[in-house]
Amino acid sequence: MSTCGTSSRVLVVTGAASGLGREIAVQALEQHWTVALLDRDARAVTATAHELGALAVAADVTSPTELGTAFAIVAERLGALDGLVNSAGLTRPGPSSTLPETDWRTVVDVDLNGTFYACQAAFPYFAPDAAIVNLASIAAARGLPERSAYSAAKAGVVGLTRSLATEWAPRGLRVNAVGPSWVDTPLIRRMVQEGAIDLKEMTDRVPLGRLGTPRDVAEAVLFLLDRTRAGYITGQTLFVDGGFTFAG
Ligand SMILES: NC(=O)c1ccc[n+]([C@@H]2O[C@H](COP(=O)([O-])OP(=O)(O)OC[C@H]3O[C@@H](n4cnc5c(N)ncnc54)[C@H](O)[C@@H]3O)[C@@H](O)[C@H]2O)c1
Repeated sequence: MSTCGTSSRVLVVTGAASGLGREIAVQALEQHWTVALLDRDARAVTATAHELGALAVAADVTSPTELGTAFAIVAERLGALDGLVNSAGLTRPGPSSTLPETDWRTVVDVDLNGTFYACQAAFPYFAPDAAIVNLASIAAARGLPERSAYSAAKAGVVGLTRSLATEWAPRGLRVNAVGPSWVDTPLIRRMVQEGAIDLKEMTDRVPLGRLGTPRDVAEAVLFLLDRTRAGYITGQTLFVDGGFTFAG
């Protein structure tokens, strides 16, 4: 992979060792970005980066200290950042009346706080015209039972996206989000195994009649990162959901 002196645009993807983050990195590389993969799973992110030809940085997005070190390393190795995608995330479904406090805190800490901490840690290194894309969810817009922590965190990501978009626009930064419905990734496969979702029931509720693919989501993310095609779009959440969010 190229390091210093690269002429291609530089992108950091969090949660890039798996699922959507990994696919976003794959497509970004196909579109000639230089990519740094950030994940708390050091072994997986190193292996993925080796396979794809990207830089690996191990960091937990709930730790501003680890993120500070990680973004400094990326900037030193690759130069100024042109893009940041916040895909690190998890969920802990369960009845809200008995949801353990640790589950609530974990989901909010990773999905919402981690997104903010990563934006903050990246801020000093952004090039003019850079863009951030945050992973929200249909859970930010629709009421889903037994998803209280996740829904609250993802609605928070939508609000955070709007606030940063207005605050950082004078600096030339655009900040958007994508809100996927159910996409076939390890996260969803774990939930199916645990009985937390029924794939057929979910698919039947999607007007376009199928689950999303990681590529569906990655295409939308790469569009929003592109300063030529999406240069006047900021503060938006683009639902990539087969029509689920606004179905009757
Ligand atoms: N898959 C879906 O159907 C779906 C739908 C809507 C939104 N999303 C969102 O998309 C994002 C990616 O989901 P996915 O399906 O790819 O999940 P995934 O489980 O396949 O991948 C998530 C990655 O995030 C990493 N991660 C988790 N906690 C972290 C932390 N504290 N610090 C750094 N890395 C961490 C994991 O190690 C993993 O590599 C999440 O924010 C998720 O909420 C997914």
